[in-house]
Amino acid sequence: MGKIVVVDAGPREGWNTAQMLEAAARGAAETGARVEMVRLYDLDFKGCRSCFGCMRKGSEHNGHCVWPDGLKPVLQSIDDADGIIVGSPVYFGDVTSECRAFIERLMFQVLNYEGPAFCDGHLKVGCVYTMNAPEAYAVQIAQRYARLYDMFYRYIGDVSATETLQANHYDRNYLDAGLEVARRERRERHFPLDLLRARELGRMVALA
Ligand SMILES: Cc1cc2nc3c(=O)[nH]c(=O)nc-3n(C[C@H](O)[C@H](O)[C@H](O)COP(=O)(O)O)c2cc1C
Repeated sequence: MGKIVVVDAGPREGWNTAQMLEAAARGAAETGARVEMVRLYDLDFKGCRSCFGCMRKGSEHNGHCVWPDGLKPVLQSIDDADGIIVGSPVYFGDVTSECRAFIERLMFQVLNYEGPAFCDGHLKVGCVYTMNAPEAYAVQIAQRYARLYDMFYRYIGDVSATETLQANHYDRNYLDAGLEVARRERRERHFPLDLLRARELGRMVALA
């Protein structure tokens, strides 16, 4: 069976995004796939430096980021993976800055302005998003990134957890305490379904 790399681009261990990704990882593992978990916030790295080390004509590095920082081993591991599942909370209408930096590095390394990309397109991609906003908002973000990943890789699908519980104590933060009851209810009733859908996404990415 193949290898699936699960990339957590959220900062909070054990929270919404991390739980969704654990469920996705479980789904992938259930198919017999080897699953590797990566937490981007534990790594020391930045986005693409535009060094063109991956794009040099005749270079053995075409298709491979050469920048030697904390993300390089992750990109190397993805080189021989069958799929990745990338999860991020939504921050100001987008994925987190760490997620964006990861995507820059993942995508630019295979870009060839003069011809076909430096990859065979076999890498399967699944995405997980979590956010305070309702479902309609999730669709916009998911579609935007689906188009981006689809340029070079094989986009399988995405799952979002919306209207998430944002903190354990709304009343201790300026978080609109009026929302707490509804968010807790959603956490109990709806979030378990989101976790099931994430698990199914993990299976799909592994089996597709
Ligand atoms: C810096 C910051 C910006 C955020 N911006 C948005 C946003 O634009 N839209 C939204 O729906 N939720 C936003 N949120 C809420 C988070 O996306 C949401 O609570 C998410 O589920 C958190 O994921 P986590 O529990 O894994 O940390 C923001 C949260 C933070 C901390």
